[in-house]
Amino acid sequence: MCGIVGYVGHRPALDVVLGGLRRMEYRGYDSAGVAVLDGAGALTVERKAGRLANLEAELDKVGRESITGTAGMGHTRWATHGAPIDRNSHPHRDASQRVAVVHNGIIENFASLRAELEADGVEMASDTDSETAAHLVARAYTDGDTKGDLAASVAAVCRRLEGAFTLVVTHADQPDTIVAARRSSPLVVGVGEGEHFVASDVAAFIEHTREAVELGQDQLVVITREGYEVTDFHGDAAQAKPFTVDWDLSAAEKGGHEYFMLKEIEEQPEALANTLRGHFESGRIILDEQRISDQDLRDVDKVFVVACGSAYHSGLVAKYAIEHWTRLPVEVELASEFRYRDPVLDRDTLVVAVSQSGETADTLEAVRHAREQKARVLAVCNTNGAQIPRESDAVLYTHAGPEIGVASTKAFLAQIAANYLVGLALAQARGTKYPDEVAREFAELEAMPAAVQKVLSTVDQVRDLGRRIADSKAVLFLGRHVGFPVALEGALKLKELAYMHAEGFAAGELKHGPIALIEDGLPVVVVMPSPKGRAVLHSKLVSNISEIQARGARTIVIAEEGDETVRPFADELIEVPAVPTLLQPLVSTVPLQVLAAEIARTRGYDVDKPRNLAKSVTVE
Ligand code: F6R
Repeated sequence: MCGIVGYVGHRPALDVVLGGLRRMEYRGYDSAGVAVLDGAGALTVERKAGRLANLEAELDKVGRESITGTAGMGHTRWATHGAPIDRNSHPHRDASQRVAVVHNGIIENFASLRAELEADGVEMASDTDSETAAHLVARAYTDGDTKGDLAASVAAVCRRLEGAFTLVVTHADQPDTIVAARRSSPLVVGVGEGEHFVASDVAAFIEHTREAVELGQDQLVVITREGYEVTDFHGDAAQAKPFTVDWDLSAAEKGGHEYFMLKEIEEQPEALANTLRGHFESGRIILDEQRISDQDLRDVDKVFVVACGSAYHSGLVAKYAIEHWTRLPVEVELASEFRYRDPVLDRDTLVVAVSQSGETADTLEAVRHAREQKARVLAVCNTNGAQIPRESDAVLYTHAGPEIGVASTKAFLAQIAANYLVGLALAQARGTKYPDEVAREFAELEAMPAAVQKVLSTVDQVRDLGRRIADSKAVLFLGRHVGFPVALEGALKLKELAYMHAEGFAAGELKHGPIALIEDGLPVVVVMPSPKGRAVLHSKLVSNISEIQARGARTIVIAEEGDETVRPFADELIEVPAVPTLLQPLVSTVPLQVLAAEIARTRGYDVDKPRNLAKSVTVE
């Protein structure tokens, strides 16, 4: 969702800020804006609804050369309060036009703050909650104890705000300073030579520095050319956590690929290998930040996996493995539903919160609810230091690298692998698997990057198929056992990328309703289990395919190499390498990602930035 960048240094701020906004486009947005301080007391603000290109065209009209200055900030907005139109775009200013503010999150008490300001005679220029912050900072800066002190003014305002927010604030009187603050919304500082940055994520400044500082909850930072200073909202010095970003600019660039998603699909073997690396040492599975004791893991009597979208599907896949390996009951639940239904949780419940971004508001709230109920929370996350891992008792990081395409691909595969490591860690602690069995399962996981690489070498056939079925009205996906969540994931990918009606079903459910949807020529993708691994499931699924084929469906079958029984029932056969049953999702998902991307591309859609979607969903 909203992307924020702020800069103070020696380069032209407009270029740095626009570069940062470009790198955060993937977060999803519907308007963009910049503010630049010229050092002589002028504050220039430009903002525009729509893509960044609209803002750039506006800047060209105004004349970019006229916007000089080495301090500034920018924002890409994903609308919550107020339509995505020019006047609701950020930055917002106070009435004197000396203060500019960009905001990510939702100010929950904005209605009462707005009423208070209006009663004071302030005229609002937008429909947003964010604008209130600009007026409040201006008021604090002009009057009272905080007069003339920008950091203290911002801190005073933060103390009054309810909800989640990242704020970045400038004042024309302080052209060499930018103040930023956060609560339950991301903010990192970039530390360069004679320059500093603040941003929603490191992608915004990775081109300039890999040295970063992660701000804690309710912290405020003042950046200048020379340094940065972190305090709490009462002005007391506070500790923030420095870290070095372990990927570089090339990871955040397309590297010759037509779109990020294709690059990320191809990076899956590496993402899997990096996620597994270092997690099996001296015969034991090791998590990253384990603040749960082995005894507590032994005491676990129930597991919940909570997540959204693709991350939820990774949990559905993992349920089969975790239950099989640990004999613990595993419930997989949509994070947005979890806390509203009063789930049964206690200190012996392990809640696994899976999130690529680590920012997803629904998952974060589920984590908070679980911890309030005394459950232990283990986060599986792809973003170092994000809010979800910060608030969890243990963390296992996926090392998929930055995922820029809005549709999750490499992070999804890495989540499955990480969830499996959690299952093995539980099995090890509880003694439901002998050490040699754990070692064998880990070795099978380690063979998966090569298997995924093999799938990638055959995707041309899938692309060709994608082009041929791109004008279909709908596509259905069927699977059984671990193939069922794969079917759900395939359907989700197609919906979000190609805006096509797509549904995933457990194949056994077909005759209980969905078979009525089958009509002549309807493409139905079937995810086959191995004929060797699960022979019963295999034969049942063969029957299901013949039933739909008899009713005119165009069957697209994803099956293990050499599975001859299925060939007569497949109008299109896509072969994937033979791997153990529980690991099949890691190979069978890949063709479905490619299929969705190719259909979207053929239909003329932006594969990396599907309409209405944001990469990290920071509102419930
Ligand atoms: C689908 C997709 C989304 C995310 C979901 C959760 O391709 O990307 O469904 O999986 O929004 O996001 P995270 O994992 O960041 O919590």
